[in-house]
Amino acid sequence: MVSNEQIDEIIEKTDIVDLVSEYVNLEKAGSSYRGLCPFHNEKTPSFMVSPSKKIAKCMGCGGGGSPISFLMQIKNISFIEAVSELAAKAGIKIDGIQKKKNGPDYSKYYSIMDTAAKFFRHSLLNTKSGEKALEYLHKRGIDDKQIEAFEIGFAPNLNQALYNVLKESGFNEIDMSELGLIKSGNNGFYDLFKNRIMFPIKDEQGHVVAFSGRIYVKDDSQPKYVNSPETIIFKKGNTLFHLSDAISNIRKTHRVVLCEGQIDVISATKSGIDEAICSMGTALTANQVKIISKYAKEVVLVYDGDNAGQKAMVKAIKLIEAESDLKLRLVSLPSKMDPDEFVSANGPEAFLDYFNKNQLDSTDFMLKYATQDKNFSDMSEVEAAKLIIFDYLKLKNSQVITERVLEKLSDIMVISKASLSIDFSKYCNTNQVPNFAEISTNETLINNNIPSNEFLSSAARCELRLINYGKISKDIAMKIEDSSLLKKPFIEYLERLNQKLWSKLVDEYYITNDKFDENIFLTYLKHDLYNCYVANIESLEKNFDKYNPYNEKDMNECIKSLVSNAPKKEIDEIDKSFYNASYENKKELLNAKIEKLKELNKNKKESRK
Ligand code: UTP
Ligand code: MN
Repeated sequence: MVSNEQIDEIIEKTDIVDLVSEYVNLEKAGSSYRGLCPFHNEKTPSFMVSPSKKIAKCMGCGGGGSPISFLMQIKNISFIEAVSELAAKAGIKIDGIQKKKNGPDYSKYYSIMDTAAKFFRHSLLNTKSGEKALEYLHKRGIDDKQIEAFEIGFAPNLNQALYNVLKESGFNEIDMSELGLIKSGNNGFYDLFKNRIMFPIKDEQGHVVAFSGRIYVKDDSQPKYVNSPETIIFKKGNTLFHLSDAISNIRKTHRVVLCEGQIDVISATKSGIDEAICSMGTALTANQVKIISKYAKEVVLVYDGDNAGQKAMVKAIKLIEAESDLKLRLVSLPSKMDPDEFVSANGPEAFLDYFNKNQLDSTDFMLKYATQDKNFSDMSEVEAAKLIIFDYLKLKNSQVITERVLEKLSDIMVISKASLSIDFSKYCNTNQVPNFAEISTNETLINNNIPSNEFLSSAARCELRLINYGKISKDIAMKIEDSSLLKKPFIEYLERLNQKLWSKLVDEYYITNDKFDENIFLTYLKHDLYNCYVANIESLEKNFDKYNPYNEKDMNECIKSLVSNAPKKEIDEIDKSFYNASYENKKELLNAKIEKLKELNKNKKESRK
């Protein structure tokens, strides 16, 4: 641990002017320094640095503070990370934390990727083989300044161009293959990226971790883009193109502009939208949303104007609203254009103008998405639009929004609001489980009837107890998942909400944290899941023996009980669907129920043995 004396020493030994100068242009002003605040947008400098007081603070927004707070805020890192970084700079040794925080050392991978990026850039700018690719970029309106800013390169049309360069630089084949740069074939190693324009993709800290390579001559036999595979340093779902370079601008505007493709990002920056980033074609992930909300308060989506793009925006709305408190705005481009096509057709100023004037909130976007270009004298189009809106309203779960939207819908469709309201209540009653099971939205429904602890069934108690065991350590969580007592994956034995909790714990929390820390874990939970967790699990903890919480025998009993109870849960499901089933289906359901009853009896007999 770090003592107060050590913290004082770190602050004392830090050259605060040096530190801040890495991020802010400082001018001397008397005994202090002054510059434009890195934490908000301003034209006259109000960020003051006092070397004698060791303070770097904005008089306008209050951002900054001690060297430690400054570093924490500017790099978005924890106290411990900031302390260890400054300690290392000042040559102060602190026991325990350096090792823990540094984690695995990926520096050799970063330098391989960096060498590759430099080689690609050289090939684009200084070789004959790169001329056509360079011409293509210019033709698309990407000028030399942007090529420089985005560090765009070119992979030559040779089997071993990159391989030879990396080999000469002293790197080994295993590492190169692990990074997805080369592959071994019959005639030795060969480059994976060939004859493509190369866009480096960086992690949050700005290390090149992957590449996306585009063809530059029409060729239908090849994919348009080829991306690096997932590697030790590249997880696609946790990466956002251009984020690290956009961070300083995002901090000023508190906003992220999210596109679909990297060329769209480049085009957006031509209009001065320097907070543009993209998720590279694939659907936005919960982790990406989490990363965005670390830096921004608002996100503006401008996906492609075609159907696929607009549909992807609908999915993104649901995800962003479920996973964050980000303010959300949406821009639909006309004539199915993507941002790059709009900029090419109308120029960067026109794009900026359109972008500024056509931002909708999610409700208005959904209304427009569901109703524009529809013919509401056709009842099937009425039904289709209703479903899209009802689906969304149900997810929003707000009386006020429902009111407003149904009113607008009534105007657009020329159908009375009363009828729409009745249909919406019917929709809510018959569709108990919303369609977007893939997103964490069921919590709302379930949360409305959280049973209080005294009334929890024994199965529910077992589930919660096992989650509690999982919280003791990552190893124990793995032990539960790997238990030989299980007949199907552990998570399938859990109720919906507990599935969600378990997955947060195992698939998200333990991926980046080795030890369980209640407070950090809570930051992974949103709204209802959080409430449910606090309501159920924390009070259940009272049942745990405080001095010896880990009890393998009890844990296994819980697993056994869940396994033997599984048919009972399935019977409940059958009973629920029985009422609405057709005659034919009822027969099938009955047979299934008999099978499950037999299984349940067998389990009971076995457990009595
Ligand atoms: P698009 O097909 O919309 O391409 O894919 P684009 O961004 O308009 O690119 P240009 O203008 O044709 O050059 C959007 C993003 O999806 C990923 C890329 O990251 C691309 O930027 N993608 C696309 C792939 O990974 N592979 C593909 O084959 C196509
Ligand atoms: Mn495009």
